[in-house]
Amino acid sequence: MNYRVDLDTPCLVVHTSRVQQNIDEMAAYAREHGIAMRPHQKTHKCAEIGKMQMDAGAIGITCAKIGEAEALVDAGVANDVFLAYQIVGPKKIARLLKLMDRATVSVAVDGVEMAQSLSEACHAAGKTLDVIIEMNTGLNRAGILPGEETERLAEEVAAMPGLRLKGIMTHEGHVAKALDQNELDGYGVDAGQAMIDTANRLRDKGIPIEVVSVGSTPGSFSTTQVDGITEMRPGTYAFYDNAIFRFGRIGPERCALRILATIVSRPSPDRAVIDAGSKTLAMDPPPPGRKGHGYIVEAPDAVIARVSEEHGVIEFPEGNSTLAVGDVIEIIPNHVCPTVNLQDELFAVADDGSIETWKIIARGTVR
Ligand SMILES: Cc1ncc(COP(=O)(O)O)c(C=O)c1O
Repeated sequence: MNYRVDLDTPCLVVHTSRVQQNIDEMAAYAREHGIAMRPHQKTHKCAEIGKMQMDAGAIGITCAKIGEAEALVDAGVANDVFLAYQIVGPKKIARLLKLMDRATVSVAVDGVEMAQSLSEACHAAGKTLDVIIEMNTGLNRAGILPGEETERLAEEVAAMPGLRLKGIMTHEGHVAKALDQNELDGYGVDAGQAMIDTANRLRDKGIPIEVVSVGSTPGSFSTTQVDGITEMRPGTYAFYDNAIFRFGRIGPERCALRILATIVSRPSPDRAVIDAGSKTLAMDPPPPGRKGHGYIVEAPDAVIARVSEEHGVIEFPEGNSTLAVGDVIEIIPNHVCPTVNLQDELFAVADDGSIETWKIIARGTVR
């Protein structure tokens, strides 16, 4: 079979051996550094890939939303889930309690009120929930500051019935703002050090901290260089994408997921139109130094300059190209995770050319 001929477009093609290589390489790194692997599932939302990660030695999975966790636990991917997201409101807490009946669950908290709500619900249900304090090491999203702020919340959480303070976590996604690998490594090490300093401060106060968890694909090989990090939660690494390979360690050949698209119009020498627009490519901006809505494997200098819902407009810098109507191209998305969430299935292509359909079972689980 030839997937470029056999599959209808636009669709998402995953090269199975590349995914396996990406998973194996990160698993080996974690093993060599004595760090537990808990890969984030939001990237692929797919049981087949979650199972590949578990088979490679992951201790459990990370999910953002309860819906993701429900889908993947029910599919038998793992029975140990970290919800790296704040669980707020009675509807969510009710689902959390049910999930705790079929999996070991831990939850991120970064405020005393949300911890209190979890504590009351778990205590009333006769359950104990593991909680992990989310720290802000530079991304300025959720999370409280290292040091005193975390210490204050840790002391309060440690005293709450129905909860067990298991550790601290951060998502050091801000490392990606770096302009070169050295700068990135510096941000990563600083984030890792802030985690370890705070963990030690809590331990000195007699608060046991078992888990010190970090997670981001760009920071994977720097944040974890600090001694004492116990867990890593990369997600994007399963596929990699246009945002990740700009520093050279990872090249386009390692990007396992590609959008297959067809040229549907060549209205002028400097312009081509593909059948993939914002409803396929997603709208994340390109990383610094790159242009457009994705990287075209067959024409790296061409730019997907504009999109409407179902059209992508490619511009050719030289004003010409041999690409013709009917040609099929492969695009590496700027940010693979939202791209996956737009489709129902992945087409997994093996080295022998055979194609399997993998359902994106947690697609759309934003609640
Ligand atoms: C809390 C958390 N952990 C881990 C990750 C994984 O990061 P990456 O997608 O860079 O691998 C993310 C990504 O958004 C995240 O939000």
